[in-house]
Amino acid sequence: QELSAAELERTFIAIKPDGVQRGLISDIIARFEKKGYKLVAIKLVHPTKDFAEKHYDDLKGRPFFNGLTDFLSSGPVVAMVWEGQGVIKYGRKFIGATAPLASEPGTIRGDFAISVGRNIIHGSDGPETAKDEIALWFKPEEILTYKKETDKWLY
Ligand code: PPS
Repeated sequence: QELSAAELERTFIAIKPDGVQRGLISDIIARFEKKGYKLVAIKLVHPTKDFAEKHYDDLKGRPFFNGLTDFLSSGPVVAMVWEGQGVIKYGRKFIGATAPLASEPGTIRGDFAISVGRNIIHGSDGPETAKDEIALWFKPEEILTYKKETDKWLY
């Protein structure tokens, strides 16, 4: 069946260098996958400092901007686009509060992280950010549209 616009909602999710180094890629992907969200783009990238500054452009001027962009550019990152109804908001729920010690157990940060500067994962915080971040990290042809058998059991 045709998917509605709401079902085609997309968000940008990145597993940061600490998540990659700590072997959390599969666990994080499994959470999104088992929920029913669809992976429509994925790549392993080592961002440059300049690219990290672009990604966090809106945080320029914050005291942690330099540390945060150094961190994001310190190693490979798993960049992904996930699709599905409510994925932007729900992705943020999965991720948990920015400060890991304030995030609930059961969330990614709640389960795996301790400090804000090493908080494992990034997710777009709204539709506009999602659009911008997807466009920054991916070329249009890297994002695939496809049907899954399970679509009809989810929607
Ligand atoms: S804020 O202050 O409301 O803008 O913070 P927030 O939107 O929650 O966070 C924006 C991103 O900045 C990261 N962050 C930090 N990094 C290092 N040190 C400190 N103190 C710090 N505070 C916030 C935070 O993890 C967010 O990055 P992403 O990648 O989006 O999670």
